[in-house]
Amino acid sequence: MSTPHNKAKKGDFARTVLMPGDPLRAKFIAETFLKDYKLVNDVRGMLGYTGYYNDKRISVMGSGMGIPSIAIYATELYTIYDVENIIRVGTCGGYAESLNVGDTILAQGACTNSAFTSHFDTPGVFAPLADFKLLLNAYNKAEELGIKAEVGNVLSSDLFFDNNTDGEQIYKKWLKMGVLAVEMETAGLYTVAAKTGKKALSILTVSDHMSKEEYTTPAQREKTFTDMMKIALEIG
Ligand code: HPA
Repeated sequence: MSTPHNKAKKGDFARTVLMPGDPLRAKFIAETFLKDYKLVNDVRGMLGYTGYYNDKRISVMGSGMGIPSIAIYATELYTIYDVENIIRVGTCGGYAESLNVGDTILAQGACTNSAFTSHFDTPGVFAPLADFKLLLNAYNKAEELGIKAEVGNVLSSDLFFDNNTDGEQIYKKWLKMGVLAVEMETAGLYTVAAKTGKKALSILTVSDHMSKEEYTTPAQREKTFTDMMKIALEIG
């Protein structure tokens, strides 16, 4: 059994799949954190691996960028490969002043400017949410590991290159509503999880900030990436 986007066979994926946007990140995660891993997909270069983390079987696969891309892979993982949990491990642009580059966010909910969530036949606006248990476990694990994790709303945007409206930067309108940060996939992932009755969580590290000129050193980037992976691997 395979799909036009995934050549893995049934059973090739574990119950939990970690999804970075970049397929080469998936390769790095498998090589760095997993034992006895094997490549299960490489269609369109969207590398997927299954291996073991502390004897726990776990998979990792790239999602690509944007809601349509993650929605294709997530739908197939949930409905064809019997995956239960997808944990996105990605980056985001910080909005909130409380955040600094390198911080970790657990996305409790995801707003969006995409039309994607309006295609699910709800007679009003659907609110994409994280699975509460994954969120709670991630929060507790972060506390246990001494990693500061902020919990709240993010924006899943169709635009990477934002535009101004009426002289006001769009991000400020979201910030006024308490939205912490912007990325491009979570609302799609959470909506697909709801549609299929499965579970999802996005763990994000702040890679840049809208109002702060902050850049991370390679050592800081490695530390923050490792923090995010520790949380994801421990709860997966
Ligand atoms: N916009 C959208 N997605 C992102 C950003 C951003 O600024 N930074 C990291 N992912």
